Amino acid sequence: MAVYIPINIAGVQDAQEKPSKTYRLDLDAGRIVGFVDNLEAVQQALRQVVGAYAIAVIEKGNRDEIIAARQSSPMAIGIGEGEFFLSSDAASVIEYTQDFVYVNDGEIAVINRHKPLKIVTLDNHEGRVDIKKLQMSISQLEKGGYPHFMLKEIYEQPKTIVDCIRGRISPDTYEVKLSGVIDNRGKFLAARRIVFVACGTSWHAALIGEHLIENICRIPVEVEYASEFRYRNPIINADDIVIAVSQSGETADTLAAVELARKAGAFVFGICNVVGSSIARATDSGAYIHVGPEIGVASTKAFTGQVTVMAMLALAVGRERGTVTEAYYNEVSAALLHLPETMEEVLKVAPQVADLAKIFTYAHNFIYLGRGYNYPTALEGALKLKEISYIHAEGYPAAEMKHGPIALIDAEMPTVAIATPDHTYEKTASNIEEIKARGGKIIAVIARGDEQVRRSADFVIEVPVIAECLMPIVVSVPLQLLAYYIAVYKGRNVDQPRNLAKSVTVE
Ligand code: AGP
Repeated sequence: MAVYIPINIAGVQDAQEKPSKTYRLDLDAGRIVGFVDNLEAVQQALRQVVGAYAIAVIEKGNRDEIIAARQSSPMAIGIGEGEFFLSSDAASVIEYTQDFVYVNDGEIAVINRHKPLKIVTLDNHEGRVDIKKLQMSISQLEKGGYPHFMLKEIYEQPKTIVDCIRGRISPDTYEVKLSGVIDNRGKFLAARRIVFVACGTSWHAALIGEHLIENICRIPVEVEYASEFRYRNPIINADDIVIAVSQSGETADTLAAVELARKAGAFVFGICNVVGSSIARATDSGAYIHVGPEIGVASTKAFTGQVTVMAMLALAVGRERGTVTEAYYNEVSAALLHLPETMEEVLKVAPQVADLAKIFTYAHNFIYLGRGYNYPTALEGALKLKEISYIHAEGYPAAEMKHGPIALIDAEMPTVAIATPDHTYEKTASNIEEIKARGGKIIAVIARGDEQVRRSADFVIEVPVIAECLMPIVVSVPLQLLAYYIAVYKGRNVDQPRNLAKSVTVE
């Protein structure tokens, strides 16, 4: 039996002195049978490690080689001119190289200045060195004259929607083409259920995806917090499609949910932003949102990119399944093509929202209300406010007010009510009246020219109206701006709010 005992060169295990080599002793033969090189020593050690890690190992005295490995924690290797870069986020070294190799869980990279990059597994099986070019420029990582990345990314949305849609909708025929759907047509035709797994803002986008897919594709949808899904022993059927939504593609809970779904035999589809991210690589197929690097911790352009991809996914799958009329398909597809102009339009409310925000910096609590497609938008608006201004905010379905939250209403509890035209508009308008009657201050997001809600709300933000199923993309912009300006006026660190990380790669 061979065991590995680190001993120093004299052959005596000296606890004081660091061993310069790890020797392999054959206890049965009672002799040293050679020594273990750095790679094998790392493989031996990592086979005993439990939990997440991303490590780089340099052997004492060996300046030519680094051994790197990861498990449930992101790692990218930048390939430069005769140099390598190790990072958890490729964007951080983009100024030196655009070529990256992404190390997978259970893999080890052997980086040696005199040899080609080598990828092996813990059991020493050869891995693939798959170099991907990261389409990103250093300018995308700079503020470009904006005071904060978050504001830059809010204003980038007309352009990021263009990038998200590019090559996926024909401006002539309005046909939507997503390669992830085309290549897996059979899976989407056979699907009897779709389960979204996501966290935070991506979970809010998934809630909108639920409306889109159930309305357009008539497939039952469930939306799960990835952190709950991974631990509650869920029922996952082989004909389920699990859709993982993640901007970073590195969220630990979402990655774990993906792995659970794949083990159960479900087809897993990813909607991610970071190309080559762990979740993107762990799924069977997917659709990138292509909104470019999102630096601000508070997600903005990724949210609108995710909803845009979900709308395209719903149209593409709905057409395959024959559940969407030609007229509705063309209406939504045309609205998507026109969305960049619509976003330019809605961004014009920024100065008005900035003034409005000054009034509400006093608040300690906010309620956000919406119905239907805009209930998740209300949740997302509340999350934006609480995560960057530290003001407590809750999103509710507007009809829920009567079931408790209306007891909270007073002059100190402002309400943001989304009251854009849909089949529940009148109901929401009466919710606003009820709040008004109890002394609540109301900021209503309404359609241009809406006179009814204007009469009862204290403040209105008017937005252009497009297909109902895409209104969350439009309505989210003033809510992003409201959160941004309130946080700025409160002197908050908008891009890096306290206690938060851009990507939650640990549980
Ligand atoms: C959103 O503004 C937050 N930064 C956070 O909720 C985020 O959406 C969540 O951590 C999920 O991140 P992901 O999309 O990268 O998986």
